[in-house]
Amino acid sequence: MRLIFLGPPGAGKGTQAKLLTERYGIPQLSTGDMLRAAVAQATEVGKRAKAVMDAGQLVSDEIVNEIVSDRVDAPDCAKGFILDGYPRTVPQAIALDRMLETKGLKLDAVIELKVDEAALVRRMENRVAETVAAGGTVRSDDNPEAFRRRLTEYREKTAPLSDHYARIGQLKTVDGMAGVEAVTAEIEKILA
Ligand code: AP5
Repeated sequence: MRLIFLGPPGAGKGTQAKLLTERYGIPQLSTGDMLRAAVAQATEVGKRAKAVMDAGQLVSDEIVNEIVSDRVDAPDCAKGFILDGYPRTVPQAIALDRMLETKGLKLDAVIELKVDEAALVRRMENRVAETVAAGGTVRSDDNPEAFRRRLTEYREKTAPLSDHYARIGQLKTVDGMAGVEAVTAEIEKILA
């Protein structure tokens, strides 16, 4: 199974991708996690991405397209994968279409999680509070200023992807305002 999760920051893409990973035995390919790992390891990509991510902006299409293409070739993706946070621009979606065609692969569904903006801000604030309470490190882009920018980037660059996937008949929309389990149940209904 090959899936894409679309949705604004805090919509629950990562939460749902992790749950489906366990259920379907396929990996979650989160470009955010891959980029944060590159930043932590101070790789060339990480050095280029850090300031952009901290500001809540999108890393270049070229960088993420390459990361994803390499990752999809790994043996654990043979049975499928869940793309979480990629594609995020129309050029990334076009690059992904081409990449899948070249590799002889097809998408099964594109699932968009719809969540109100006020709820997204509350979720980000909850995540910060929970991380602090657990003694963890708060994400450098989970602050009001960077989060506002992430929402703007989403509205301007990622939201148009819904039309892209609706046009080719692959878009399924899920109410992401419901509780985590209810959202998972809705997604599983779509995939059944
Ligand atoms: P990324 O890591 O992808 O972050 P994001 O899209 O901003 O999303 P989040 O991780 O904040 O939210 P999520 O939708 O996964 O929600 P989650 O499940 O965590 O990207 C970070 C940065 O990397 C970007 O800004 C950019 O710079 C760069 N980047 C990444 N991909 C890129 C790309 N393709 N191109 C260019 N740049 C890229 O949930 C959030 C919180 O809500 C959690 O606390 C969770 O417990 C809670 N929650 C989840 N579901 C529910 C629910 N149903 N009800 C109540 N609470 C819930």
